[in-house]
This record gives sequence, C-alpha cells and structure tokens, in this order.
Amino acid sequence: MTKKSIHILAIESSCDDTSAAILKNDVVLSNVVANQKIHAQYGGVVPELASREHQKNIVPVVQQALVEAGIGKNDLDAVAFTKGPGLMGSLLVGTSFAKSVSIALNIPLIGVNHMQAHVLAHFINDENQNIPEFPFLCLTISGGHTQILKIKSHANFEILGETIDDAVGEAFDKSAKLLGLKYPGGPLIDKFAKKGNKNAFVFTEPKTKNDLDFSFSGLKTAILYFLQKEVKNNPNFIKENIYDICASIQYTIINILMKKLKLASKKTGIKHIAIAGGVSANSGIRKNIKDCEQNLGWKTYVPNFEYTTDNAAMIGIVGYYKYINKSFDTENTLAISRLKIND
Ligand code: KG4
Ligand code: ZN
Repeated sequence: MTKKSIHILAIESSCDDTSAAILKNDVVLSNVVANQKIHAQYGGVVPELASREHQKNIVPVVQQALVEAGIGKNDLDAVAFTKGPGLMGSLLVGTSFAKSVSIALNIPLIGVNHMQAHVLAHFINDENQNIPEFPFLCLTISGGHTQILKIKSHANFEILGETIDDAVGEAFDKSAKLLGLKYPGGPLIDKFAKKGNKNAFVFTEPKTKNDLDFSFSGLKTAILYFLQKEVKNNPNFIKENIYDICASIQYTIINILMKKLKLASKKTGIKHIAIAGGVSANSGIRKNIKDCEQNLGWKTYVPNFEYTTDNAAMIGIVGYYKYINKSFDTENTLAISRLKIND
C-alpha cells in the first residue's frame, strides 16, 4: 500500500517577514514571503509596526501559498506555525491564525521552534540541497542568533558555543547603519564587499572566555571609532571608501565565524558541517565554507538561498517531522518569545 501524502500549511511570523508555505511531505509546493519594507526608514525592525503588518499580510500570503501549490484548504492535513523565539507581537499573529485554521478545519496544530527550523531547512527535499548526515555541526547565523550547534537527530540540538552579546546579523546591520546604509544592511555589505579590498582596513577581533563563544559588540564600537576618526580628517571618507570598508568588515566577521567553526570541528572530530540562518546567504561565508571541502576534507551543507532568510518552508519541514511523530499541540499552546533551542 502506498503511503498517503501529507499536506502541511506552514506559517512564519517571528520577526518582520510574513510567510506561508505548503509542503507535500518533505517537498515544498509553495513558499510565499512578504517582506515588510516599512522598517527600512527606521533603521531596524519596529515591533509594533511588524505585528500590524503581519495582520495585514497573513490572509493574502496564505491564500497565495494555496493557489501556488494548487490545493484547497480542505486538502490540508495539518497546520504548523512558529511558536518562538521572536517578537511577541509578531508571533501572536501567526499563532492565533494557525489555531483558528486548526479549529476551523479540524486538523492537527504543530508549534515549531524557529531556530530548529533554520537548521532543519537542510532536510527539505530540493534538488539544490544535500541532506546532512547525523551528527553534524551547524553554524546558525541570523539577525537574532549566532550559535555553533551539534545536531544529533531531528530533535536533539547541543549548543557548543554562542554569542555573549550581539548576533552576527546585528553586527552586519549595525555596521551598515554606521555607514548610512538602509536596513537590513547585511545584503548591502555583501554586495559592496565584492568590489572592495578586504585588507584595506584592519579591525581587531573580540576575545571571549569560552573559545567557542562569539562577541560582536566590541567590533561595532571599533568600527564606530574608526569611522569617527577618519570622517574628522575627511568628511567624504565613507563615500570614497565604501567598497573597501564593506570588504574589510565582512572579512573580519567571516574570519571570526570560520575560526570558531574550525575549532569546533577539531574539538568534536565532526567534519559534516552546515550553515543556516539569514547570514548564511552571505557570499563570503558560503565561499569560505565550500573551500574547507578541499582544505580540511569537510562535507559541507549550504542551504538553497530561498531557505536562508526567514521563510515558512523551513517551518513546514519541522512540521512534517513532528507530524510523523504525532507531536501535536493543543489550542492552549502559547507563543514564547525566548524559546530555547531544544524546546
Ligand atoms: O534569519 P533571518 O532572516 O532573520 C532572523 O531570524 O533574524 O536573518 C536576517 C539577518 C539580517 O541581519 C540580515 O542583514 C542578514 O540576515 N543577512 C545577511 C545577508 N542576507 C541576510 N547578512 C550578510 N550577508 C547577506 N547576504
Ligand atoms: Zn530567522
């Protein structure tokens, strides 16, 4: 007997992207993301505005996901949603919507941990991705997190190191803000870095007590003081050197990430290495990771671009594994803004 296919509606609304996806088992049929442009003018995500935008976007985004997948709401077998971590006002929109869908259609409700989803995006059945072998290490780098994880199974994540202050995405975005670039600045630094000299300027790398932890707040301060000094001598310094500054900042950040990741691989003896999260879209980190296949004998897993920044397909794949294990939530489940990696 052939196994019945499962259709899952997945919803992601943890920060400033409203996303809905439809998965048929582990295959993505649609993955619609509405970016909220409104935050650019404020230089960062404004939580109150984010939740208002989610409210406007959620219904059209879900409708579009169903249309693109070519199925109707009555074909759905379960609804998965981001339970946390994230901004409470944003999480509540997706959580409440998913509960309503579950009750109205009488289908299981599945709460998903956003950080697990970034990692498990690697298990989406997609021709551009390889499925990792357990155990593997995952450098999870986003606007809210920076962690080196040891992944032992679909549900077992051990934190080997993490940031003690800013996340790496914040380091990119805050540096970009100092340069007068719009939010989110990470992709712009990446774009400009390609045209610059990475050795033009040197920024010292912050130290941490635990050698697998990260610290990025000192780097931001170092960049601020450096720019203040240079702009005093030449008011056009940033404009005249934007490519070199971006290349140097990106080079420093990637060096920090790669050193720690290599150390984690050496300490654990694990050579199956993945990257995940919004910053894993960065061209520099993607190239550095790939280079380690040749240099260090790593087997690397770099996600398809579509699954790097926040998206509902990654929520759907966790939903699929939870569906198989019948790990369902009740309508009393709550959004948790500081949800930990194994929760
Ligand atoms: O995973 P994500 O979409 O949201 C969170 O869960 O935080 O990550 C967003 C972060 C932002 O800080 C953004 O600037 C950064 O990912 N980002 C990048 C690139 N694309 C997105 N940073 C550097 N280079 C990129 N190409
Ligand atoms: Zn994320």
